[in-house]
Amino acid sequence: MTAAADLAGRLTVVSGAGGGIGAGLAREAVSRGMKVLALDVDAARLAALAGSLPRDAVRTAVVDVADAEAVAAAASEATAAWGPAALICCNAGIEFAGRTWDMTPDQWRRLQGINVDGAFHLLHAFLPATIADGRPGHVLVTSSVGGLSSGAG
Ligand SMILES: NC(=O)c1ccc[n+]([C@@H]2O[C@H](COP(=O)([O-])OP(=O)(O)OC[C@H]3O[C@@H](n4cnc5c(N)ncnc54)[C@H](O)[C@@H]3O)[C@@H](O)[C@H]2O)c1
Repeated sequence: MTAAADLAGRLTVVSGAGGGIGAGLAREAVSRGMKVLALDVDAARLAALAGSLPRDAVRTAVVDVADAEAVAAAASEATAAWGPAALICCNAGIEFAGRTWDMTPDQWRRLQGINVDGAFHLLHAFLPATIADGRPGHVLVTSSVGGLSSGAG
């Protein structure tokens, strides 16, 4: 485990940080002295999060994690300001409530684009600098009970 002291002052990136688990991750990271890059597609949610945290501890970017170039641009800005990420939280995700075969191909691609490609885009944009940095770092991927077992449909 990395000691909390080794993470203080270093960058955390959280996708889907506008609400729910992602906002909780962002708040916890700030409470531990980390700098947070909060990514979300919802600008209003990001603004509410930023307004509730110390100004010098959080940067926000309206980014769709399915967009590799947008993730890369946000990574460049944040790492230039705060250095390589110490914690990469691939948390943004959406759900399709229904049977797999009832999805349209567009819905299927959107789901994959966010839940699968989106996590890859974060790793691709942030992880090489973290590894090159040499200090301990962590990757957190928010999953689901649905990622551990399958159900009907
Ligand atoms: N809460 C649960 O019970 C539960 C159960 C299983 C899995 N999960 C997973 O946990 C993660 C967080 O869930 P939550 O309950 O906090 O969700 P939430 O809906 O409260 O928050 C998700 C956030 O992700 C943002 N988002 C959606 N699409 C995005 C995109 N393309 N790019 C960037 N941001 C995007 C949303 O705007 C929202 O702010 C998700 O990956 C979800 O699939 C949650």
